[in-house]
Amino acid sequence: MRTKRDLDNSMAWEPIVKGTRDWAVAPNLTDYDQTRRTFSWDAARGLLDGLPGNHGLNIAHEAVDRHAAGPRREHLAIRWLGKNGEVEDYTYRQLGELTNRFANVLQGLGVTPGDRVYLLAGRIPELYIAALGTLKHRCVVSPLFSAFGPEPIRARLSIGRARVLVTTQSLYERKVKALRTLLPFLEHVLLVGDDHGPTEVPDTKSYRRLMDAASGPYTIQPTNSEDIALLHFTSGTTGTPKGAVHVHGAVVAHHITGKLALDFHDDDVFWCTADPGWITGSSYGIIAPLTNGITSIVDEGDFDAERWYGILQSQKVTVWYSAPTAIRMLMKAGAGMARNYDLRSLRFLSSVGEPLNPEAVVWSQETFGRPFHDNWWQTETGGIMIANFAAMDIRPGSMGRPLPGIDAAIVRATPEGSLEEIHEPDVQGELALRPGWPSMFRAYWGEPERYQKCFAGGFYLTGDLAKKDRDGYFWFVGRKDDVIKTSGHLVGPFEVESALMEHKAVAESGVIGKPDPMAFEIVKAFVVLHQGYEPTDAMKRELLAFARTRLGAVVAPKEIEFVSAVPKTRSGKIMRRLLKARELGLPEGDISTLETS
Ligand code: WT7
Repeated sequence: MRTKRDLDNSMAWEPIVKGTRDWAVAPNLTDYDQTRRTFSWDAARGLLDGLPGNHGLNIAHEAVDRHAAGPRREHLAIRWLGKNGEVEDYTYRQLGELTNRFANVLQGLGVTPGDRVYLLAGRIPELYIAALGTLKHRCVVSPLFSAFGPEPIRARLSIGRARVLVTTQSLYERKVKALRTLLPFLEHVLLVGDDHGPTEVPDTKSYRRLMDAASGPYTIQPTNSEDIALLHFTSGTTGTPKGAVHVHGAVVAHHITGKLALDFHDDDVFWCTADPGWITGSSYGIIAPLTNGITSIVDEGDFDAERWYGILQSQKVTVWYSAPTAIRMLMKAGAGMARNYDLRSLRFLSSVGEPLNPEAVVWSQETFGRPFHDNWWQTETGGIMIANFAAMDIRPGSMGRPLPGIDAAIVRATPEGSLEEIHEPDVQGELALRPGWPSMFRAYWGEPERYQKCFAGGFYLTGDLAKKDRDGYFWFVGRKDDVIKTSGHLVGPFEVESALMEHKAVAESGVIGKPDPMAFEIVKAFVVLHQGYEPTDAMKRELLAFARTRLGAVVAPKEIEFVSAVPKTRSGKIMRRLLKARELGLPEGDISTLETS
């Protein structure tokens, strides 16, 4: 049993010490310092195949074709578990054929390399096939979260000028159809039937019919490792969502992090619970397990503690990648529930997306006999950057140590305005990375200035505040900016404020993340009403519903509070930090720029 030495200091939890006797199989990374010394990205690239004839590097070739043509041909690539208990298996060979067909569908439509193919669907097989087929045809894949409302969908389709959208009939009818006139660049909408069958809907094409008519063979054309592969949207404090651009060469990082940080072994059954609408669900829900030739579980269903334990048991999951909010919900369901299931096949548990509280690490060690291994990364980094590795002792509450090949530092601005690294341990600063790893984003789509702003003094600045202890373990402190983390999803306050402002009663709004024991934060909006509107409960409900219809459940505020004014700087910027301090009853800090009228 672990004891908590000091309630106020998360660094004070007893470490979870790893011994070789705990190893069911030897981890891929056994000696951190040694691996760090000998690691090179060139060697990591050497673990991949490359297109035949030295024709470059293509994610879909590494994920699918090379296995479809090799000894793992008949190995199970994806097992899909439908919401209603359906099970569909896809071997690497079958995935090879289906993704060829999808590439041929794009070819047949006259879609050319570099065009953007957006995906808006729940976790259905067609989503995975379309994503990989799109990469084969060297088009850019942009997955959108299916729970987004029409407004976030419209914004993202417009920024990347989607040429193709693959979606389902019901999502189309509920969220996209009414937007079509605003999306003149969107030439082809491919619909998957709600029963996965053919569709007949005006201004759209049937995914099923196109796939049935497409031919089987397809040869991936030469692909440069700098060719754009993925466009993944993330949120900033202000302005429109940011489209992080990732290239085919990123696969080197996906592959090696699968081995080193998630400890993939040949016979693993891996379950990444994230949705491909968020980058974890692309990098680790699609690409990394497949390039490593292992079996990946895709569950269409939403979180449900019994369902999840049932999947871990029935699928004999060995490596599990999930998120703190889900883990906290499992904790709430109780360790007793977990004990009703046989979870002995679980070997490695891992978590990402928001701070993993030390209690959760210790709870999992006690409940599963295995701790959750926290790791850290972002949409911009494309892959895992800091991790608790299988063979490394865990300091509960720490994100772990940088991946071999990654230089992470804590930095701060000097009084002269330049940047310096803080070498002293346990001092808070901004988490920064030395650019150059393969899955680093190459741009924010169409916004060179916003991209440039992320770099200074030879570092990529992450926007996170963190500390590093004397042994090189990193500890998350918070965000530097006002973006909100709710159930692992990043939400931009501006997107929410803009949607609220479209309601005729709303004069102004300011949106913050309010701390929440389950979701880490919830979206909370402070609203100023126009003259003549009453701040009633009915108005609150109306605004909540209004925002939910436009933005979708994840992005919309969960709480609204009416105020007579929103604090702003003299230049008119909403002071969300002040709203937050007031919400939490904390000191208001520097308010010298506050506008006073
Ligand atoms: C932000 C990035 C990359 C996967 C999903 C998130 C926060 C991420 C951790 C962690 C504390 C974390 C950071 C980061 N975050 N992992 N282990 N501990 N915070 O990608 O949506 O781009 O969000 O999530 O604030 O900057 P994302």
